[in-house]
Amino acid sequence: MPRERKIPSPEPDFDFFAPHPHPTKVRVINSMFGSVPDAFDGKTLELGKESPRRQKKTTEDATATPTPEPELETKTEPEPVPVEEVMKPSVASEVKAMAWDTSDGSAQSRLFIKGGRIVNDDQSFDADIYIEDGIIKQIGNNLVIPGGARTIEAKGKLVIPGGIDTHTHMQLPFMGTHAVDDFYSGTKAALAGGTTMIIDFVLDQKNVSLLEAYDKWRNWADSKVCCDYALHSCVTWWSPEVAKEMDILCKEKGINSFKMFLAYKDVFMLEDNELYEVFKRCRELGALGMVHAENGHLIAEKSSEMIQHGITGPEAHEMCRPEEVEAEATNRAITLANQANCPLYIVHVMSKSAAKVVTKARRQGKVVFGEPIAASLGTDGTHYWNKCWRHAAGHVMGPPLRPDPTTPGYLMDLLANNDLQVTGTDNCTFNADQKALGKDDFRKIPNGVNGVEDRMSVIWEKGVHTGKMDPCRFVAVTSTNAAKIFNIYPQKGRIAVGSDADIVVWNPNASRTISAKTHHQAVDFNIFEGMLCHGVAEYVMTNGHVVLDEGQVRVTQGMGRFIPLPCNSETVFSRIRERERVGNSEMVFNRIRERERTTKPCKVEREPYDGPVAKITATQMSEKMIVADNPIIPNNAEFHGRPMTSSGARNLQDSTFSLSGQQIDEKSPRRSTTRSLNPPGGKSSGLW
Ligand code: URP
Ligand code: ZN
Ligand code: ZN
Repeated sequence: MPRERKIPSPEPDFDFFAPHPHPTKVRVINSMFGSVPDAFDGKTLELGKESPRRQKKTTEDATATPTPEPELETKTEPEPVPVEEVMKPSVASEVKAMAWDTSDGSAQSRLFIKGGRIVNDDQSFDADIYIEDGIIKQIGNNLVIPGGARTIEAKGKLVIPGGIDTHTHMQLPFMGTHAVDDFYSGTKAALAGGTTMIIDFVLDQKNVSLLEAYDKWRNWADSKVCCDYALHSCVTWWSPEVAKEMDILCKEKGINSFKMFLAYKDVFMLEDNELYEVFKRCRELGALGMVHAENGHLIAEKSSEMIQHGITGPEAHEMCRPEEVEAEATNRAITLANQANCPLYIVHVMSKSAAKVVTKARRQGKVVFGEPIAASLGTDGTHYWNKCWRHAAGHVMGPPLRPDPTTPGYLMDLLANNDLQVTGTDNCTFNADQKALGKDDFRKIPNGVNGVEDRMSVIWEKGVHTGKMDPCRFVAVTSTNAAKIFNIYPQKGRIAVGSDADIVVWNPNASRTISAKTHHQAVDFNIFEGMLCHGVAEYVMTNGHVVLDEGQVRVTQGMGRFIPLPCNSETVFSRIRERERVGNSEMVFNRIRERERTTKPCKVEREPYDGPVAKITATQMSEKMIVADNPIIPNNAEFHGRPMTSSGARNLQDSTFSLSGQQIDEKSPRRSTTRSLNPPGGKSSGLW
């Protein structure tokens, strides 16, 4: 089993760089940093200080004789490094410990990356990097490093933090089958493309315990992952039990984000009132709410209409989910989250309309983040109209890609300018025979596409190579912002002393053409087939192991670790907390009047009213009906001010449609089909 880190305290002011009790001091000589010339000049870097999150040794390791500190030498010539084989899944676990358990300061765990340009989200500079035991120990020039380190030449290359894919579904059981890329092939492919961490979703069936589902995912992933990973949890039903389990997941299991669905009616979808409850719970726990923004009720209606019209192919998948519906759901989710003062993350932003909603909300000061994915940035929904059924079905995912071919460029513009912040892939792959489950009915095509391997190249090609974003922004949207939002920064998402050695040597001058024939994913199709990408991962290191080495992918199943995500991320919650500071009623009034941020409600202190009070009239409303917006409609009560009809039905001039599609009185025992002889608008003999 992979080494698991101790779950850190969820304290918001957790100090990642708290000094180690016995730091080793190494003088950095003549350090030279490009854009921040004296950032580290003459400073003494403290080696050995480590994140409390990094559990350095396994239980067995802890009992072993400690390895002496390596001697300091000036020699930096490479020593031969044992070549690890590309492991077949069946034999990999046997050799795992031998091949990868190098957290002992031995020569094979020492790496020296020489001559590259380091790129972080906020600066880039020329410097070398020394790595030991999976941690970046030194950054500078003319470093004094221990002997025996392997040197990787990075002249003319960029040295960037490994990518973090915020959205994957490895081996997900879904729509009667399961995703073909599992935690082994999926993470191996991720590494091949320069992604060194994934965040997958625990997504089990409705009514299954969230904790049981979590254990299931951990069991699947721990034995197979080749890179570090973390988990989001999905809330697909609501009860006091779920509320309790959310607490345990946050406090004990390393979960800090919960995804809710406004699609997949009767399967995963929550109603608006449930969604609001979950948002409130997330807020209490310091967890991030995430939403799949579509309208499941409308999709169900419109997909039946498509079938009735005889449109059964993949194009119907898009037509019954038009982009204004994605925008409606995005707006609804943002509104409900804002009312709960819960920070919100919109997963897989697929359309211009939804992206505009996110952008507008951010400009209103709402705490919302938007995640376009490799698919929405790299291709479009015109493929649903392709004459080849397999090709069209290969692009089916929810929400769908959009037929407007200017969509990817538009989303990239917003990403470049921080209207959108972070990128994932929604990698959830199905082979031709699995997609063919829906050959006669598009509703049965398993939803999902690839992306985990190609995300970095696609974003470089469409973002940096086009001149829309610079390399620093590329790093921000492929790793740093994710690390900040999910509260693992600067352990991940930064090249800095003390950070994990998840590093990519990126060649901006090399190019490759994406193809299913050459990719490392298990799936037989690639939505980016034929795309020429400038910008290629040349070396990839995960926890200091070189796993992409001169074109060869060298990994072992289970070599990755589970990374717990602590709650109360500063990036996500500092504004939320400030808005909840208790104030007086005048402050609350001012904020409401000026339409400023939400704040904790506070009552106005005033003398009680002691004048006359009207008597309740003959319509005999029950106590419950006096409370506005109570959905329970008693017999013979009024509805929206108009009395019920003599047969006990609601007055037909009243609208009962809620945004979620639920009838406001659908739980009322007296709601019935009523024959109306004189309906509004004239006599009819039809059924109402
Ligand atoms: O089509 C998709 N997106 N499949 C995976 C499940 C989800 O909604 O994220
Ligand atoms: Zn989704
Ligand atoms: Zn997804």
